[in-house]
Amino acid sequence: MGIDNGLTDYGDPEFASYLRGAFASSMGFSEEALSRPIVGITWTASDFNNCHRLAPELIEAVKRGVLMEGALPMVFPTLSLGEGFLNPTSMYFRNLMAMETEEIVRGQPMDAVVMVGGCDKTIPAQAMAALSVDRPTVILPVGPMMTGSFEGERLGACTDCRRYWGQYRAGTMTRERLVGVKQRLASTAGTCPVMGTASTMASLVETLGLALPGAGTVPAVAADRLRIAEESGRRAAQFARDGGPGPRTFVTPESVENALRMLLAISGSTNALVHLTAIARRAGIAVDPHRFNELSEETPVIVSLKPTGDGYMEDFHRAGGVRAVLRELADDFDLDTPTVGGGTLRDHIDFDEGWRDHRVVRPRTDPVNPVGGLVSLFGSLAPTGAILKRAAATPELFERTGRAVVFTSPADLAERIDDPALDVTEDDFLVMQNAGPLGAGMPEAGYLPIPKKLLERGVTDMVRLSDARMSGTAYGTVILHISPESAVGGPLSLVRNGDLIRLSVSERRLDLLVDDVELAKRTPEIHVMDQQGAYGALYRQEIMQAPDGCDFRSAVREPLPQEAGSHS
Ligand code: FES
Ligand code: MG
Repeated sequence: MGIDNGLTDYGDPEFASYLRGAFASSMGFSEEALSRPIVGITWTASDFNNCHRLAPELIEAVKRGVLMEGALPMVFPTLSLGEGFLNPTSMYFRNLMAMETEEIVRGQPMDAVVMVGGCDKTIPAQAMAALSVDRPTVILPVGPMMTGSFEGERLGACTDCRRYWGQYRAGTMTRERLVGVKQRLASTAGTCPVMGTASTMASLVETLGLALPGAGTVPAVAADRLRIAEESGRRAAQFARDGGPGPRTFVTPESVENALRMLLAISGSTNALVHLTAIARRAGIAVDPHRFNELSEETPVIVSLKPTGDGYMEDFHRAGGVRAVLRELADDFDLDTPTVGGGTLRDHIDFDEGWRDHRVVRPRTDPVNPVGGLVSLFGSLAPTGAILKRAAATPELFERTGRAVVFTSPADLAERIDDPALDVTEDDFLVMQNAGPLGAGMPEAGYLPIPKKLLERGVTDMVRLSDARMSGTAYGTVILHISPESAVGGPLSLVRNGDLIRLSVSERRLDLLVDDVELAKRTPEIHVMDQQGAYGALYRQEIMQAPDGCDFRSAVREPLPQEAGSHS
């Protein structure tokens, strides 16, 4: 405990401790301060991360909480990933942030840590790191933005960004009005205020018990957010003093299943399944997509938030947030799982009745949708799986056979999608190859635009397929994460223009209707991303597929399926 925690394991340990004390003294700490348990706090504020703009204020509140418990707060920087600012895609950097956070938490003398995260990839990276190190951790989401408004209509990034951009592409919105909307889409600090990836992951870490009750949904600018920060500091200090528990106490097969249910009930982001899989596997727990489909049949969507419903995160929070969902579906969740807030989830679901708002968090008897928001698909085109957010898709397109219109990469798509000569009708399936983890870092490119000539005829949705991801704020009949991906020679790499593809959501199938003799004659379409530098080389060597959470092979904790028991 204290600054001597984790003495160097070479040389004279007493001398190392003496030296460390000498250097720490140069920062003005007293002997008394340095003898206290130490709570590290990650500094993830960055001018390239708008969502984390208020992280410094939160960190002050965390420090206050740590000091109130008699421990010493030590703030240290880690990587910060701002979704809109990263090339080739933020997903490419998630494992780098996980790796960096893991190593720097393990390498520095801290008894517990508060990880301040929020923007899409940051909470997944931090949770992955936390599970690998297994030092006591409290995750503190920065919280969602408030909505803006334009011509009397509420706006939130980035579901409404897409809607207005679609109108602009279809020629029904002028450039001037589009610019007017831009300043109002993201009008405060915090993460995107719809049920996108950031909101989903914040809700899931609260469900897993890694963040305090309420931490998933309180708006970024609310005073309650600072109180949660203070309490996060207090809890971390108590863990530092008591020597635990670590995050593997909270992330168990039961809590992972709770998180899967929460993902379905809130109709969360498709990305969250990849992230949750990675987090769980760092704890040695497998996530089985077939079990996920079973859960999807018995878990209703009860939260009405964009992009699948009407509300925004501030509404969800006012309606009780994650705790209200746990309470409404109390018979489905395992409420005896522990939380860093103390006790079990059950201990936290009886809160102020004044919060209840059934327009946003619906009762089980009157759900938004009687079945879960997401389903996994399997078949000859996706032997190890694909995902569809059915709650954000068009049911009329669920049982279809269509002719493939193939794009060999995101670049090929950008070049040809609006070509007036493109041979495409609204009944075709748009197919994109080589946008998977190895092909392109798995960008959010799976929301293939409707070809302009069809848009102009009023077509609003088509079946679209790829090995890419999609923003959690998007919608449409978009099949994602096709595995194995094109770049590793999966069946997707063999699809050609004019092939027939059969989709059956009811059967959970996605099949390429081309016989094996014909497929054997074809050369797979393979493009591997060529990012430069040591990280690029490491990435290509280590990256796994979507059903494995797109984690690095060496980072996964073994044994895998055996420990998961009924979940595998
Ligand atoms: Fe950070 Fe959307 S841009 S959460
Ligand atoms: Mg996003």
